[in-house]
Amino acid sequence: MMELKIQLIPTGEIILSPGKNGENHCHNCKVVASDGVRAMMESALTARDRVGVQDFVLLENYTSEAAFIENLRKRFKENLIYTYIGSVLVSVNPYKDLEIYTKNHMERYRGVNFYEVSPHIYAVADNSYRSMRTEGKDQCILISGESGAGKTEASKKILQYYAVTCPASEQVQTVKDRLLQSNPVLEAFGNAKTLRNDNSSRFGKYMDIQFDFKGAPVGGHIINYLLEKSRVVHQNHGERNFHIFYQLIEGGEEDLLRHLGLERNPQQYQYLIKGNCPKVSSINDRSDWKVVRKALTVIGFSENEVEELLNIIASVLHLGNVQYGGEDSNACITSDIQIKYLARVRQYSTLFCFVLWGQRLKVPLMSPLNLEQASSARDALAKAVYGRTFTWLVNKINASLTYTSDSSKNYSVIGLLDIYGFEVFQHNSFEQFCINYCNEKLQQLFIELTLKSEQDEYEAEGITWEPVQYFNNKIICDLVEEKFKGIISILDEECLRPGDASDLTFLEKLEDTVGGHAHFVTHKLADAKTRKVMGRDEFRLLHYAGEVNYNVNGFLDKNNDLLFRNLKEVMCMSENKILTQCFNREELSDKKRPDTAATQFKASLAKLMEILMSKEPSYVRCIKPNDSKQSGRFDEVLIRHQVKYLGLMENLRVRRAGFAYRRRYEVFLQRYKSLCPGTWPNWDGKLSDGVSTLVKHLGYKPEEYKMGRSKIFIRFPKTLFATEDALETRKHSLATKLQAGWKGYSQKSIAVQAWWRGILARRRAQRRRQAANTIRRFIKGFIYRHKERCPENEYFLDYVRYSFLMNLCKNLPKNVLDKSWPTPPAALTEASEHLRKMCMQNMVWSYCKKISPEWKHQMEQKMIASEIFKDKKDNYPQSVPKLFVSTRLGKPLLTLQPTVPVTKYDRRGYKPRPRQLLLTANSAVIAEEGKLKQRIDYGALKGISVSSLSDGVFVLHVPSEDNKQKGDVVLQSDHVIETLTKIAICADKINTININQGSIKFTMGQGKEGIIDFTPGSELLVAKAKNGHLSVTAPRLNSR
Ligand SMILES: Nc1ncnc2c1ncn2[C@@H]1O[C@H](COP(=O)(O)OP(=O)(O)O)[C@@H](O)[C@H]1O
Ligand SMILES: [Mg+2]
Repeated sequence: MMELKIQLIPTGEIILSPGKNGENHCHNCKVVASDGVRAMMESALTARDRVGVQDFVLLENYTSEAAFIENLRKRFKENLIYTYIGSVLVSVNPYKDLEIYTKNHMERYRGVNFYEVSPHIYAVADNSYRSMRTEGKDQCILISGESGAGKTEASKKILQYYAVTCPASEQVQTVKDRLLQSNPVLEAFGNAKTLRNDNSSRFGKYMDIQFDFKGAPVGGHIINYLLEKSRVVHQNHGERNFHIFYQLIEGGEEDLLRHLGLERNPQQYQYLIKGNCPKVSSINDRSDWKVVRKALTVIGFSENEVEELLNIIASVLHLGNVQYGGEDSNACITSDIQIKYLARVRQYSTLFCFVLWGQRLKVPLMSPLNLEQASSARDALAKAVYGRTFTWLVNKINASLTYTSDSSKNYSVIGLLDIYGFEVFQHNSFEQFCINYCNEKLQQLFIELTLKSEQDEYEAEGITWEPVQYFNNKIICDLVEEKFKGIISILDEECLRPGDASDLTFLEKLEDTVGGHAHFVTHKLADAKTRKVMGRDEFRLLHYAGEVNYNVNGFLDKNNDLLFRNLKEVMCMSENKILTQCFNREELSDKKRPDTAATQFKASLAKLMEILMSKEPSYVRCIKPNDSKQSGRFDEVLIRHQVKYLGLMENLRVRRAGFAYRRRYEVFLQRYKSLCPGTWPNWDGKLSDGVSTLVKHLGYKPEEYKMGRSKIFIRFPKTLFATEDALETRKHSLATKLQAGWKGYSQKSIAVQAWWRGILARRRAQRRRQAANTIRRFIKGFIYRHKERCPENEYFLDYVRYSFLMNLCKNLPKNVLDKSWPTPPAALTEASEHLRKMCMQNMVWSYCKKISPEWKHQMEQKMIASEIFKDKKDNYPQSVPKLFVSTRLGKPLLTLQPTVPVTKYDRRGYKPRPRQLLLTANSAVIAEEGKLKQRIDYGALKGISVSSLSDGVFVLHVPSEDNKQKGDVVLQSDHVIETLTKIAICADKINTININQGSIKFTMGQGKEGIIDFTPGSELLVAKAKNGHLSVTAPRLNSR
């Protein structure tokens, strides 16, 4: 029997363990992957009673906050921390490690439709990645929520998802490592333990991840916002300074600490004891130190840079320990030792002492400032040094993440915004004011973009847009940021104006200027009830998310963020390279007052909005379930507060304004087609027609749904749930039918198998019979092979004939000289001979067709030579392979006439004389060095004599009566065959060449006769013999 295993995993998704053969079986789930991992999931619908709805838009009572929170609670109790509002992901911090971030989980979300799998941060990450890849549009993921809600964790999860699932190469790996390693470094320097979060980010962070055309992460860029510098010098009770201080003290090697003048005890440092909380159980500073040191190396910090960076960190601690004494009006330094260290770590020049705290009058150092002023100057310096070093660090990380390709502009981007959420404390100061202002801006962007995307979708689908009522918080943004009239402008004005400006005069100014604003109240302006909960030094803003009272104390100082000029000067003189980059001289010469902190923040926010507007946004809204960082505790009051502050109800209302549910036609049809006989099992027509048929069959009323261009829109969740329930029932009945069908099927399959085996056996028997027949016929044919063709040998003879022809076909002679030919069977002897001739003719013909005119001429001459000399003269065979040439003279002549060097023997003493023989059109000419000696007209040439031996002597016979001639001419040529052939051709005397045995007679003029005797010998010798004859000894060449 098949085995069905279902295992519930924490996302609520049903995972099937692979069956024995690796396949998945599930009677009511569609199996999507064969690797035993993912099964089709809309289980939030099917299992909705147990785990609520996985998308808040499916809440029937969507305006009820209680229903909203109840859904969150139900899911949270089941460890289902993620829920959607449409495409927005709501995440509740579980405060415990859930097994939902494994590589398997990543794989499951890769390339899968958002709605196919249960809600997850990976689904958001994947969806953004796919949109970027397919639509080519830059994306951003905005993560918000209050401190400790899980924003930073979420952004890390997204980064890890890309690091694991995106394509990579070696170079990309480095970038991935750096992207991942930038986190521990930034967290060490920018995070701290607070009451709300043991690892609270004390700065805002926007990070761009850049992807190349292949979709691989190739670079990154980080922008940091408003580091909480005040933490460097002060921490509230139960909180800590930035992690790096404790990491250095706890984890730093002995040598390093000695060099930095630090003790391994945080209690020794004034800047670390304010919160009275040096140790946190959830934090291991020592092991974190190792992680940070390694990360610095991965990012590309040199040893020198690390040393200088740590020098700065140590110097901040030393600076905090600088103590003052003396009279109130003239503080003096009582902690000389710190100054020594400050100078020693070369953090600050020795000049520092004189400038910061006055001249060295005597010991101790005296300062012109009073005690309080001196302390705050010291703290201002510590904050400035730390704050600027942090910015330097971010820049340094950016440099290491820079995409260095030539086509550097050619990349797509996914931005991650992990920025402080709304903050409301008992005591809210300038920082909360800035943070909450930032949240107002983000909310504005969020509403605008969500509304806009809703509207766009309706428009794209051709569905009328129904206006949505929502609170536009622009009015609050304006209250804060408007030029001249906004709170920031008023604050700046108070900071800059001459005279006695103070935090309280600022409050009065506010009352005067924005006192009438509906979202602004002060103690003075408030009604009696509000007055009870407000201090006189506070103003209250009615933010979109709720009311916050801000205490004005410290607003002016924090906004001014001033550092004494002389301190800046000293910093510029530092020998520490990082510090000289942080404090540059241009700043000193710049007469313009630097922008205030609030104005700088406002400008950076405006820039951030621009960045975000240019991208397609996705949202992650993080919620903290309780204030005690406990797992499993769901503090309803706290959560209601956040649901409100995050504007989630507003978001849901916008999303539900028209239709609760929408799906592409193909997805809808695929899921529900079994509910209608018209669409089951397959629908072949247009998708929208299929969906229409289906919903009509299901009895949807016209007001319940609308048909868009590519999607169906369903107004109420209950309609969808009814459909889901029907599907559930249908699945069960289908499963039963399938089971019954399976039983019948398995019996039938046995019959089918038996039948098939029969067919195979029959085929095999038939083949055996055929083979035996063939063999039998062959043997018979062989026995009768010499008989006339008869039925007995017919098959055999045909076969033999066929094999001969096939063999011949493969083994035809390759050229005319190749005389091979397969032996034919007796019956084919005659045919074979015909074929052989045809083949030869064919080869000759194609050979002739290919020969050039020069070669033809050569062959003709050779033919004539053969006619004259073959088997008649001894040295003929040697001449055959030697080609005839037009001239045998060393240098080419201008004439085309054949020329050969010859030796002429004179008639009396047979003296040899070198001559040239030139064959013109009419005569043979004998010349000496170009001088004509004798001309013999061809017409007068009576004959030519030559011996049968291998010598080259020959005689041209001319008429003896011709007075011009002095008798026959005796010549010798080394190429006698060629020479005589050419003479014969030119003179047309082919038949007048006499080949003589023994001797040749010739006339010497005046009727006298000469004789040449030829004898075979060992070598060529031509000489006059004693008998007066010319004796020629010719070497024997042939065996003849
Ligand atoms: N998805 C999660 N799974 C497990 N623990 C989490 C998760 N998200 C947050 N936490 C816990 O909550 C703490 C605070 O989260 P963090 O992301 O730093 O908050 P935020 O950045 O919003 O201030 C983390 O240190 C971690 O212990
Ligand atoms: Mg954080």
